[in-house]
Amino acid sequence: MQEKATFGSKIGLIAATVGSAVGLGNVWRFPAETQAHGGAAFLIVYILCVLLLGIPVMLGEFSLGRGMKSDAVGVYKKIAPGKAWWIAGAISVTASYLILSFYMVVSGWTLEYFVQSVTGNLFADSSLTQGLTGIEAQDMKYTQKMQEYIASDNAPLIFTYIMILINLAVILMGVKKGIERLSNVLMPILFVVLVIFCFYAFTMPKFGEGISFFLNPDFSKINMSVVVNALGQAFFSLSLGMGILITYSSYFPSSTKLVKTSFTVSLLDMLVAILIGVMIFPAVMSFGLEDHNFAGASLVFVTLPEVFAQMPGSQVWSILFFLLLFVAALTSTISLAEVMVAFLCDRFGLKRQSSCLIVVLPLFVLSSLCSLSQGSLSSFTIFGKTIFDFLDTFATNLLLPLGAIIMCIYLGWFAPKDYLKRELTNNYSFRSVMTPIVSFIIKWCAPLLIGVVMVSQFI
Ligand code: PHE
Repeated sequence: MQEKATFGSKIGLIAATVGSAVGLGNVWRFPAETQAHGGAAFLIVYILCVLLLGIPVMLGEFSLGRGMKSDAVGVYKKIAPGKAWWIAGAISVTASYLILSFYMVVSGWTLEYFVQSVTGNLFADSSLTQGLTGIEAQDMKYTQKMQEYIASDNAPLIFTYIMILINLAVILMGVKKGIERLSNVLMPILFVVLVIFCFYAFTMPKFGEGISFFLNPDFSKINMSVVVNALGQAFFSLSLGMGILITYSSYFPSSTKLVKTSFTVSLLDMLVAILIGVMIFPAVMSFGLEDHNFAGASLVFVTLPEVFAQMPGSQVWSILFFLLLFVAALTSTISLAEVMVAFLCDRFGLKRQSSCLIVVLPLFVLSSLCSLSQGSLSSFTIFGKTIFDFLDTFATNLLLPLGAIIMCIYLGWFAPKDYLKRELTNNYSFRSVMTPIVSFIIKWCAPLLIGVVMVSQFI
């Protein structure tokens, strides 16, 4: 067995963890959900979900990972030898791998859009709309481009493969030289690009209208299903329940202050999500596209290209935006891949190189299936869903909360007495007011609430 890797610096550890958290969930799910479900009212619910459940569950994962210094299954094998709690870890590892298989495809799309922006093809006339102008023609043009870039067979496959190879290169280099170094470079780029966009949005004629379109509070829109959405979004966005935070925190040095780290990561993740809204809506509003569909892929792949097309310097803005999206997606896929790599290294004593290959090879098959399910395999369904949607629903809505619930039940009821407290205070070296609150939430609130959310999706 090789010696356990660690992150080299505090900044690096935060950059890598934030890199995992900040992903497509922040860019295309959060702004659309917020705008559709009551603006600031939704935001308040979301913030409460993060503070009251997200951060405690994150601390649960951190305490297991940093305390036991092992992979998502190994932590349970170490802390509760001979017991079946490792199944929680196995569920998380499975969830992360399944999510990786379709997230890789979406990441491929971001790379494809980046490349098409650089070459200028994204803005070239399409066959359908040659010579036509006006919003409808533009809609048609970018919808056709999306079909071509996402729902055809070959191009998305090629970009998915490139994405897998980039992932392979990074995870092969290891925790410090690969993941940490990459995050240290990419995360600042992401923030700088975001700030540039926000400044630009600020100068737009309809900045105020855009912000109120995004955040105007409407409490009448808050109902049970909106709360369920907010909680689901919080868990997905913070990368909880997938073994990622267990794996990454096993690389934390023992001096890391877990509570502080969890707040920093969660606040940065929220900040990015909100800033993305601040950058998108004033632009959408200023160019008269507020009637557009903001849900899912069409926000970033149809509406925003239309916005960029109307902005002076279209190509530069779209290159910057898809760079941001690509960075967000890449650091997330790497964290997902690392869960399985760590599992294979720690459980089976494999060398990192062999683990990386074992992780990547089946991905070519799984991700190909997911990619083709948008194209020629779209009529092949499992329980009425395409392969892509089936994996998404099964892993995100079922496995992910299940792993999180079992972890909370273990930590709340069965872990060695004061385990959580010891981890949160770095072996009692300081006091933390958060300890009793977090323990209470993990013991009682988290399993119940996550359980309710999980079940409510199926009824
Ligand atoms: N947290 C990432 C996001 O917001 C998504 C993600 C999910 C990343 C699962 C890793 C694992 O998009």
